[in-house]
Order: sequence, then C-alpha cells, then structure tokens
Amino acid sequence: MKGQVSKPIKNLYIRTFGCQMNFADSEMMKNILEGSGFAYTEKPEEADLIIFNSCSVRAHAEDRLFSNIGLFIKKYPQAKFILAGCTAKRFCQSVFKKFPKIDAVLSPAEISAISDIVEDIFEGRKVVACGEREYPLLKRKGRMSEYVVIQTGCDNFCSYCVVPFLRGREKCRPPEEILEEVRSIAEGGTKEVVLLGQNVNSYRGDGKISDFADLLERVSEIPGILRIRFLTSHPKDIPDKLIDVMAANKKIARHIHLPVQSGSDRILHLMNRNYTSGKYLETLEKIRNKIPDVVVTTDIICGFPTESEKDFADTVKLVEKAQFAGIFSFKYSPREETAAYKMTDDVPQKTKEERLKDIQNLAVKYAFSERKKFVGKKVEVLFEKDGVGHSSQNFLVLKQNAKAGEFLEVKIRKASRWRLFG
Ligand code: 5AD
Ligand code: SF4
Repeated sequence: MKGQVSKPIKNLYIRTFGCQMNFADSEMMKNILEGSGFAYTEKPEEADLIIFNSCSVRAHAEDRLFSNIGLFIKKYPQAKFILAGCTAKRFCQSVFKKFPKIDAVLSPAEISAISDIVEDIFEGRKVVACGEREYPLLKRKGRMSEYVVIQTGCDNFCSYCVVPFLRGREKCRPPEEILEEVRSIAEGGTKEVVLLGQNVNSYRGDGKISDFADLLERVSEIPGILRIRFLTSHPKDIPDKLIDVMAANKKIARHIHLPVQSGSDRILHLMNRNYTSGKYLETLEKIRNKIPDVVVTTDIICGFPTESEKDFADTVKLVEKAQFAGIFSFKYSPREETAAYKMTDDVPQKTKEERLKDIQNLAVKYAFSERKKFVGKKVEVLFEKDGVGHSSQNFLVLKQNAKAGEFLEVKIRKASRWRLFG
C-alpha cells in the first residue's frame, strides 16, 4: 500500500451484484479503503468513488450490471468509477471501449491492491488489474456477523460454470492466517463468522489443521465466536468427518447449503457434477440422521441443454424427497468460456421459465413446511437488530423485546413461509 489516498476524506459507494463471495469482496474493498481515507456513503450522489462489484455467473446478471453502469455514469458525473469482480476479469480491456468513463478494472484476485489502484486513478491514470495477487490479511472492525474467505477459485469445472475461468484455480488460505483474522474480528465484537469457499470440502491446511473439519473446530474455540456458518459444500465429496464434527459441535450452524443443480442423472453427468440423484439423497439422509435439527438448502438450474420433460420430472421428484428449506433456482444461461457452451441451448426460453416457476412454487411449499417443524421447539437465535435475528438454521426469527447482540434460546410459537415467531 502506498499509504493514505488523499485528504480530506473522500466518499465511497459500492454496488454489489451476485454471490456471497462478491459481498465478501465488497466488504474487503470497503475495509481497505476505509483504512486509507475513504468514508462509506449510502448515497451515490455524494460519492467521489463508485465501485461496481460484479457477477458473471449468468448473462442476466451481466446485462443488469451494464445497464446500471450506463445509468450511474450519466447520473453521477462527479465520481470516479471502478469495475471490479468477475465481469471485470471477463471483459478486462474491452470495458473501456464500452464505457470510456470507467477509470479502472479490477479482477477478484487483485482486490488487495485496491488502495494503490485508487491512488493511481485519482492522479488521472486508467488502471487495468486483471491478474492474480494474494488475499491480504485484514484488520477490520467486527460486525455481529462477518464473512471470512478461506479459499478462492475452483477446480471443479462444472460444465455450465464460469467461476473456474474467472476466479482461477482453487487456493486455500493458510489456517493460521484465517484464525488470526477470526481472532481479530472476534475481539472487535463479531459473534458469528461465515467461512467462504467455492467448495469448502476440499479445503486443505497444514500441520494440525489439515482439512475443513479441523478448521471448523479451531475457529469454534476462538473466544467470542458463538456461531460458525459456511458456504458452499459440493455434494460429491462431503466427508463423514465434517458431518461428525458438525453433529458434535453446537457452535456450527445447523444449516448446509448443498447445491444439487438437477435431479436427472443424465443431466448431472452432462453438468460434470460427479454424483447421482441417489447418491445425493443418501448424503442428505446421512446428514439428517446425524444432525437432527439441520436444514438443507440448494441451487437448481432449469433448462440445461437437452433437459427433457422426463429430466425435469426427475428434478421435481428429487425436490419432493429432499424437502429443502430454501431453493435458489436459475434459468440456464450459456457462458462462453464453459464446456456446456458447445452444446446447443435448446430448451426454449418459455419452457425454462415454466420450469423455474414450478421449482419456485415447490420452494415456497417446502420453505413453509420446513419452518413449521420448528413450532413448539427451542432454537438458538443471534439477534442482529432489536427484535430480529437468525436461528442456527439461518431462519429469520422475530421476537419482541430481544436486544441487538443477544444470543438466546427462543421458543417458536408460529411459522410463516419465511419467518419464525418467538
Ligand atoms: N446458468 C444458470 N445458473 C448457473 N449457476 C452457475 N452457472 C450458471 C449458469 N451458467 C448457478 C448454479 C450455482 C449458482 C451459484 O449459480 O446453480 O450453484
Ligand atoms: Fe462453479 Fe461447480 Fe466450482 Fe461451484 S463447484 S464454483 S458450480 S465450477
């Protein structure tokens, strides 16, 4: 870092699109820049610097991003602009042709250099930073719940997914560095951490902390940490050791996000997912037998190339068996870099939309039935605001008179589709 960006204080505004990894990256940029003379504002009209942190996983997200950038550039001519994230990596130099007003492009792996880049652009230079640098160790203020990145990139190459191309090969942060970051935010008041990686199952550390289960145990021993969440686990290789550690350690949230993508074995094979629907359901059963109060959420893609009525019916069947507490569902979006791009995107848009709607309806049905199971039971709730918190299952819980920061056992008296009432 070259030191202070400049004085007096400048205002920063960040617009984030996409996944938790992107939100974590935005937090990191905000933290770094707050440490070098920026104040965060919620008002883009007051910003000296506007950062778009973008997502390229689906074309729709990209289209929304580009229309937003166009609008912002017109509306807020006072600001400097940075395009960061996956889309920056994907378009890199060509972004300047599309939007000459943009001052810098910054790939996810270059975020640690944001201070230097900002200094350059305020001195009038355009900056292209689309390579790879290490994740920095951060000192930051602890909020109630904080993301901590434990692993970047992905080696799985699911046939539809751009992540391995845009975020690069899988890299694990050394365990000591992760523990130090968690200790420092815990001292600052953080009570919950969300450990992030594209596939935490394949996390590899060193010494006594050799895998993800070991890391979870060590994070749970840090004073002040009451709850640990994590995202995402790949269904192909969730280890028994991880399930056992979760079952035995109450600080680990009773929630697993286990993206299934499809219930058709033929489609799963084309997606290069390396499991069958039968194996997925077996894994679920094992998890639920060992961790009785756990809930499972998932991701589903509708209309992958060649997906037939029968394939989709298999997905519906799987959803009915699996009883997910939440489903993030997406229409298949062809992405140029990926293997599936070579297949014809042959499911008509209208069919994709109908299938998506069906999945969304099922999602609501099971969201409600999974929440109803908790009526009359006690759940542990961390209140992030007065009266509003999340249970260990990541269910939103409302309870009058609870104060922000409290961690309480709450008896549930009523459930709605998306909420529990204590
Ligand atoms: N089209 C549609 N959905 C996709 N996802 C990833 N790539 C694509 C794509 N090309 C979804 C997957 C993944 C989630 C983060 O985004 O379901 O789990
Ligand atoms: Fe993409 Fe598959 Fe890696 Fe997830 S596991 S980031 S879907 S390639």
